[in-house]
Amino acid sequence: MDAEHSSATRRPVAVALGATVTASGATALPATGAPAPAKSGATALSATGAPPRSAKTIPGAPQDGGLLDRFGRVATDLRVSVIDKCNLRCTYCMPADGMPWLPQTQLMSADEIRRIVRVAVQSLGAEELRITGGEPLVRKDLEVIIAGIRDDNPDLPISMTTNAVGLDRRAQALKDAGLTRLNVSLDTLHPETFAELTRRPHLDKVLAGLEAARAAGLGPIKINAVLLRGMNDTEVVPLVDWAVTNGFEMRFIEDMPLDGDRSWSATNVIPARDIRAAIEEAFTLTADPRGRGAAPAERWEVRRPGETAVAGHIGIISSVTEPFCAACTRTRVTADGKVRSCLFSHEETDLLSALREGTDDAGIAQVWRDAMWAKPRAHGSDRVGLARADFVQPERTMSAIGG
Ligand code: GTP
Ligand code: 5AD
Ligand code: SF4
Repeated sequence: MDAEHSSATRRPVAVALGATVTASGATALPATGAPAPAKSGATALSATGAPPRSAKTIPGAPQDGGLLDRFGRVATDLRVSVIDKCNLRCTYCMPADGMPWLPQTQLMSADEIRRIVRVAVQSLGAEELRITGGEPLVRKDLEVIIAGIRDDNPDLPISMTTNAVGLDRRAQALKDAGLTRLNVSLDTLHPETFAELTRRPHLDKVLAGLEAARAAGLGPIKINAVLLRGMNDTEVVPLVDWAVTNGFEMRFIEDMPLDGDRSWSATNVIPARDIRAAIEEAFTLTADPRGRGAAPAERWEVRRPGETAVAGHIGIISSVTEPFCAACTRTRVTADGKVRSCLFSHEETDLLSALREGTDDAGIAQVWRDAMWAKPRAHGSDRVGLARADFVQPERTMSAIGG
């Protein structure tokens, strides 16, 4: 068992690499702080206002086939952000005043998203698509985007991670357009806590959205809760109870250092082992016999006390205390068309500029292969661990990446 799959009780440790990743080819910013020239010549600002670093090609990338990296991982799970804006301001994600949003001209159009997904599926072996944001529902043409992707890829599982605000009016249309299923972010069942945590009084809208999603057949639905000390950490058992009762899969997520306020602290993270212990005070947990595969969430069967039948499932996403990078199969595209090989990458590759410059599908596929070949080992670097002293938070925040 390697460091990424270490035991539940161990603190994260910095693990030295056997392979050489230091020559990552990053185009460092010049001392002036001016943007380094992007591969495509583009110098677009990231959503934080900081210039993204462009990834330089590392020799050795495959010239055909899928998205292989230097550590033998193959990325088959595509996560595409369709917009950086959001209608909530969750404290673990965004500052109260929001972010400097991407200008419309830098956002991928519905046709551009469709083309990028087609290349990923038909040339690079992507097996599933997750639509992310910001908040994807903020995009008025979301149904058009999904319908286009569905036309090109009749069998592709297309899921979406959303906060469900406004979903009550659009769930059926999204289903009709070709959306397969949903994950919904919901951290608390208390209206006051919801308003404090998201800085918006919209719990009712989320619950209405969930109801409509269920009615439209957008299941199975997973509920994502980021646990914050002193905010919603007493709600673990009520959330499991509510989710099991309503047929949702409840997932608890360790807070990650991707917040806009840059106030993340390792000591505030509620570790997976504490989450499991809290749940086990009220339910019996048994490791899901189907195993985890490459999924971020470790899944458990839930039984109510004294019952033998499985009442439901929960998942725990423990990026901080029990990292899972060794099994990572994800590739990400931001709303402005940049490939991020890792959630925590410091480098990006500009697919959208290549596309707008007239590059053909084969050329785009190769730019993507080169980007993924350079994927860091773990957590944006050659070292695993978000709580290690030398971890550097990426410029882009969760909302600007897509999660
Ligand atoms: P399912 O496939 O439906 O289980 O979804 P998922 O858990 O892969 O994705 P979702 O969008 O629901 O994200 C849940 C949490 O997992 C979010 O906090 C994501 O940021 C986090 N997450 C997703 N992929 C990764 C990853 O590759 N690395 C890390 N560290 N976290 C991830
Ligand atoms: N740490 C962990 N998860 C986060 N999310 C947003 N910000 C963070 C963070 N700092 C989650 C949201 C959403 C998913 C895409 O990412 O709750 O469910
Ligand atoms: Fe994959 Fe990077 Fe997430 Fe690790 S942190 S699981 S390498 S995306």
